[in-house]
Amino acid sequence: TGQAAAPRSFPPFRMIEPTTADTITLPAGYRFQVLAPWGEKFTDDGRTIGFNHDFVGFFPIDLLEGGRSSTEALLTINHEYVNPLFVGGNTKERTAQQIRAEMQDVGVSVVRVRREAGTWKVVPDPRNRRIDAFTDVELTGPVRGSAVVKGATTVKGTVGNCSGGQTPWGTLLTCEENVDGYQKAWEGSGYEAMHQGWVTEIDPFDPAWTPKKRTGMGRFRHENAAVVLAKDGRVVAYMGDDMQDACIYKFVSRGKYDPKNRAAARDLLADGDLYVANFGNGTWVLLDYDRNKKLQDARNGDKPLFTSQAEVLADARAAALAVGGTPVDRPEDIEVHPRNGDVYAALTNNSKHGNFFGQIIKWTEAGSDPGALKFLWGVFAYGGPQSGFASPDNLVFDAYGNLWMVTDNSDLGTNPIKAYHGNNAMFFFPTEGPNAGKAYRFAVGPVEAEMTGPVFSPDGRTLFLAIQHPGEDSPSLDQLTSTFAAAPGTKIPRPTLVAIEGFPGWRA
Ligand code: FEO
Ligand code: CA
Ligand code: CA
Ligand code: CA
Repeated sequence: TGQAAAPRSFPPFRMIEPTTADTITLPAGYRFQVLAPWGEKFTDDGRTIGFNHDFVGFFPIDLLEGGRSSTEALLTINHEYVNPLFVGGNTKERTAQQIRAEMQDVGVSVVRVRREAGTWKVVPDPRNRRIDAFTDVELTGPVRGSAVVKGATTVKGTVGNCSGGQTPWGTLLTCEENVDGYQKAWEGSGYEAMHQGWVTEIDPFDPAWTPKKRTGMGRFRHENAAVVLAKDGRVVAYMGDDMQDACIYKFVSRGKYDPKNRAAARDLLADGDLYVANFGNGTWVLLDYDRNKKLQDARNGDKPLFTSQAEVLADARAAALAVGGTPVDRPEDIEVHPRNGDVYAALTNNSKHGNFFGQIIKWTEAGSDPGALKFLWGVFAYGGPQSGFASPDNLVFDAYGNLWMVTDNSDLGTNPIKAYHGNNAMFFFPTEGPNAGKAYRFAVGPVEAEMTGPVFSPDGRTLFLAIQHPGEDSPSLDQLTSTFAAAPGTKIPRPTLVAIEGFPGWRA
């Protein structure tokens, strides 16, 4: 087991060194188990787990009865994108069959899991299901039925499912990030670019509830949605637009959350205000066509840039820049400190600025109220050879308020990082005390993989982590660069969820 140590100042493990080994390397006393790999059957009607796992949601099986089980849950797994070398097996010809295979392997899996005799396993449940590029999803908010979507109220599917968030009422927010390539890749499939790039809400507990796109939260390269409550009970979601020189947003619901009324809570994200962060003066700027004259005055040549709120939301990035939103170095994940409400954001890197290592920033809302419109910010930790990490991506806090972060160096190619970083890794940071902001390496992933979706069980004894795109740069099936989590008797690497154990758990 991990070494007992002061939880807010030191990690519960002995830090490991960088490595390029094709496995998950962990500190002494920790172990991992492969759970829910790509291609595994998990529903009665024979559906299989999708590809390239990203965000993982942990919904205790007894959540709706007020429980917090740490040994049984509905997990949600985002499937961000496919590698056609492995999915469908046809990287060159865009046959209808190939396109269909790809469209079925993206989206989200809802998977019931249970811990029994020291092992996690996938178990049958009528709620086990796939939401893929074919699933009906309802549009909600100002864009629903508007000219921007040619009057559509229901659309097909959710794609580019990167990170996400969980709501206090037990639903998943899955974030549609890199959606631009599909129009061409899936030609003839009916794919519509304007139907993607939103935040989609899914109720893992209720398969009959049609998933909802929350258009009021804007359309951009949605990385994540970190959900908290304002002091007055409105719901606040912090979101990043993961592109070079793009912005950070927050959505604030019109209505207030009533824990006793789940049906009403499931409608809260249909109606609210979208703001963009101005880091120059520490303010949240409203993106509302009727209430912010800058949006009415914005011009593209001699034409107005926007004529309605639906148009503002559909190109939230342009709207953000028009009102003074601050472009930053690729906002990846955002999380809220569980004890003091500070908001942490990973700015992963920006090759345009020669920022190869990235940094983690944090801000404090006025009065520590997520509903506030002013904030103070600073840098929490810088990537680089000194700190040992580079390209911070997904974040998760533990119950003490320690920050855990995984890196994603995959987009950078040859750069100064390779010399010290090894494979993508997971780091632990105290956020208080003398070691605040110091990075301790906890885990290193397999070859060419990114570790994503970290989430702890409520008791802190299991960390679920997704292993995304192992062996991604394999030139062919005969020249695989990784065999991580290959099915027995095969060599093809598989993206998978893993359960990591050995943690001491939270102590009272
Ligand atoms: Fe899919 Fe920005 O990571
Ligand atoms: Ca990410
Ligand atoms: Ca996260
Ligand atoms: Ca990533």
